[in-house]
Amino acid sequence: MAALTVTFIETDGTERAIDNVDAGPSLMEVARNSGIAGIMGDCGGACSCATCHVYIDESWLERVGAPDDIEYMMLDMVADVQRDNSRLSCQIRMREELDGLRLTVAPLPGY
Ligand code: FES
Repeated sequence: MAALTVTFIETDGTERAIDNVDAGPSLMEVARNSGIAGIMGDCGGACSCATCHVYIDESWLERVGAPDDIEYMMLDMVADVQRDNSRLSCQIRMREELDGLRLTVAPLPGY
């Protein structure tokens, strides 16, 4: 199985490169398994909590793709910190074409 890398930038600016990531799990699962600060994933990946909100590095946006309608509605829950490159990390599965992906953990609303 491919050993992929994804880099999370935590809200305090700490860069955490996670190596040996398998294709298949969601980025929320990768983050939680790696102890990335700020990714809680309270709903377990059911797209109903928005506690896995991330900003995708601009250069990766096209490969990652846009949110679907349900995810877009859920992003409304974090509208005060939502950006054009917002995604819910539970809705993105790690795959080979995302090897090297960089994303930033979004702050919780109100912070
Ligand atoms: S984990 Fe709940 S919306 Fe992503």
